[in-house]
Amino acid sequence: MYTQSLDQAPVGTDTNNAIDIHQDAAKQAAFDAVIDADGKIEAQDWMPAAYRKTLVRQISQHAHSEVVGMLPEGNWISRAPSLKRKAILLAKVQDEAGHGLYLYSAAETLGTGRDELLDALHSGRAKYSSIFNYPTLSWADVGVIGWLVDGAAIMNQVPLCRCSYGPYARAMIRVCKEESFHQRQGFDALLAMMQGTEAQRAMVQESVNRWWWPVLMMFGPPDADSPNSAQGMRWGIKRISNDDLRQKFIDATVAQAETLGVTLPDPDLTWNEATGHYDFGTINWQEFQDVLAGKGPCNTERLATRVKAHQDGQWVRDAAAAYARKQAAKQQRQAA
Ligand code: 3HC
Repeated sequence: MYTQSLDQAPVGTDTNNAIDIHQDAAKQAAFDAVIDADGKIEAQDWMPAAYRKTLVRQISQHAHSEVVGMLPEGNWISRAPSLKRKAILLAKVQDEAGHGLYLYSAAETLGTGRDELLDALHSGRAKYSSIFNYPTLSWADVGVIGWLVDGAAIMNQVPLCRCSYGPYARAMIRVCKEESFHQRQGFDALLAMMQGTEAQRAMVQESVNRWWWPVLMMFGPPDADSPNSAQGMRWGIKRISNDDLRQKFIDATVAQAETLGVTLPDPDLTWNEATGHYDFGTINWQEFQDVLAGKGPCNTERLATRVKAHQDGQWVRDAAAAYARKQAAKQQRQAA
């Protein structure tokens, strides 16, 4: 006879509830074992609600960043100085759109629909990277975005290829390969300008001066002020902390700036023999908080452009849905 005598709930408790709690504890233990063994959690696996929520938050913010990140550079496609630079920039901006799509798909595997995610972005509820709220005022900005912004993005994203959530980790492998091309094309464009006229060199330096500090903010608040870091690291979503990634980026970038012949705008940037790292000046975290609160130089413009692009694309989504319905009806007729 079927019995659960060993699992009997104490008198006066809900038996189903007790079984649920028991099963959830077993699932949690299995989940913890995978995380502890540095394994991968897949979409169909059980996961704690908070892990799912954190992933949807991070992956969707990341997807939004890729998509909004097309705007500052897209601004320069029609004004690129040569056919070669225009073709490179077009390819790069298109890559960012693709990154957004992989990442929205990865977020969808967690059960949150793309419409819901886009609605959060378009209504201003969702975050995207602070860096894309700064303007692109000169052609040198396109090179500096490639070199520094994509350089910082790679530093942050390579460890995400080892993220504990399989679909996100796998999406990041391709994203990082493409980001690497983006970083190199930016450096190459700047190198060409630095070998050009005095005016071109001045344009590059002015651009580096504007972007340097906002780029350092991309890595997020200091570890001590980062509410999500400890749990994100415990779950193997984040592998390296905000401060450590920022330091690694600075350490790698100083030599690149020397090769280019530009100065990084920080008088406190000095090599520290004892730590084996560069010391650097104080980041203006108030500016970071202001940008996150929607008060950056371009927040309003970026969101408005994004919403308009989405609305203008409604006919494409309608056409794709109508085509899919037609195809499904055709297949049904053929199967009948
Ligand atoms: N811009 C906007 N928001 C930021 C931010 C930034 N630069 N840095 C941190 N934040 C937000 C966090 O999202 C979090 O917001 P929430 O709690 O309301 O969701 C809050 O500030 C506190 O920060 P935490 O450090 O606690 O947050 P995380 O642990 O999530 O770490 C992160 C922040 C390092 C950005 C992490 O989410 C991450 O690695 N994300 C994936 C990579 C990513 O999204 N990169 C964005 C740039 S993509 C890009 O640049 C495109 C490329 O083509 C150039």
